[in-house]
Amino acid sequence: MIQQELNKPIFRLLGEVADQMQMPCFLIGGYVRDLLLERQTKDIDVVVKGSGVLFAEQVAKRLGKGASLAVFKTFGTAQVKKGDLELEFVGARKESYNLNSRNPQVEEGTIEDDQNRRDFTINALAIGLNSETWGTLSDPFDGRRDLENKVIRTPLDPNITFSDDPLRMLRAIRFASQLGFFIETKTFAAITANKERINIITKERILTELNKIMLSPKPSIGFLLLEKSGLLELILPELNALKGIEQKNGFGHKDNFVHTLKVLDKIATQTDDLWLRWAALLHDVGKARTKQWLDKQGWTFRNHDFVGAKMIPHIFRRMKLPMGEPMKFVRKMVELHMRPIVLSEDVVTDSAVRRLLFDAGNDIDSLMLLCEADITSSNKEKVERFLNNFQTVRQKLKTIEEKDRIRNFQPPISGEEIMQIFSLPPCALVGEIKMAIKDAILDGKIPNERDAAYDFMMQNFKKE
Ligand code: CTP
Repeated sequence: MIQQELNKPIFRLLGEVADQMQMPCFLIGGYVRDLLLERQTKDIDVVVKGSGVLFAEQVAKRLGKGASLAVFKTFGTAQVKKGDLELEFVGARKESYNLNSRNPQVEEGTIEDDQNRRDFTINALAIGLNSETWGTLSDPFDGRRDLENKVIRTPLDPNITFSDDPLRMLRAIRFASQLGFFIETKTFAAITANKERINIITKERILTELNKIMLSPKPSIGFLLLEKSGLLELILPELNALKGIEQKNGFGHKDNFVHTLKVLDKIATQTDDLWLRWAALLHDVGKARTKQWLDKQGWTFRNHDFVGAKMIPHIFRRMKLPMGEPMKFVRKMVELHMRPIVLSEDVVTDSAVRRLLFDAGNDIDSLMLLCEADITSSNKEKVERFLNNFQTVRQKLKTIEEKDRIRNFQPPISGEEIMQIFSLPPCALVGEIKMAIKDAILDGKIPNERDAAYDFMMQNFKKE
């Protein structure tokens, strides 16, 4: 597999440059890992003994027209791009990090030093590109075996590796989630022991890893590990607060953390939309604050949808999640996530369906997916009944949308027109008239058409 991959012209070229410059040169990191795992690979990581920047300059020159070079002086790294090709170059180094910052003190080193300073054994595998090392796998920490056994393990004492760069604790969990790997016991214990060090990592870097966990095939793997290590409490305490079951008079409620993860895994089988997955993660986030025992009803979480929706902007701001459309979408999903369920429990009236369509707009399909994923009961009969009712809701949504086109509701009579017809200045009454027309349409009193709306308006509001 390695030999076949090395037939690509780019690797021949790297080998030639390495021999010419008499610099030991290796493929390393994620590229080698993913190659051996037969996963889709993207950027190619290259390590050389000596200056990675000088090496990259030569490579860019040899690639000729269309190649671009970017040098990151602070890190001593360089990037070369040409078309789809993306190469990252670094000079081999020994590294030790300052305890209170992410900025490493860098010293030149050998390829072995460089492998030592890497995060996991599976990321420290290197493939030689010089003629004397061509195609040989350098594997000082048995990374290949760990790949086969699906194990994540640090090359050095994990306490050193994690305290060097605490983001690696999240990376370990992200790889476990993404690849379905197991984090070796000592490595995991060190994550728990060093968890507080995550506080020196920027929110942006944390988010990159969290999003990768979110997008993995079974995101619950990552979130369970985050919870178990204590990192979740530091990163997303609102989710951590959903853990546990309380008993009263022999009645317990379900564990909302466990339920949330089931919903997240279910939605992950339906969509790769990152924001819909975030909506699933946060849909019940209001439950910790709204939990209440009522003698007649038992455990209740009244208004958890509205309380949860209100929490979304705060969570997004703190975590540096995007505050524009993604935040608004997640907030809307959280706010509306009970509506189809309530609908499906009652007789599904046309006007309730119209109102749901109006509030959800173009996000109605995402909302329905979320609601279906939200049914996690172990009672088969109950699940079947809910899903059948959802089918009825979906059918109704379809017929009503075809008839009334509510999804992208535009008022059939504009405020301007209302002002002209009634000789009104801009005032509250204009809004009232518009609202009355909208309600009449949503309640099914009149069709969503201009003439009907005009007649309704003239009958209900008189010119002074
Ligand atoms: N690395 C590390 N510590 C980090 C980040 C990266 O030791 N905190 C090393 C690892 O050897 C890693 C390589 O740098 O394989 C490249 O890092 P990066 O491109 O960020 O990650 P990949 O491992 O390539 O994985 P992915 O592309 O999935 O992010």
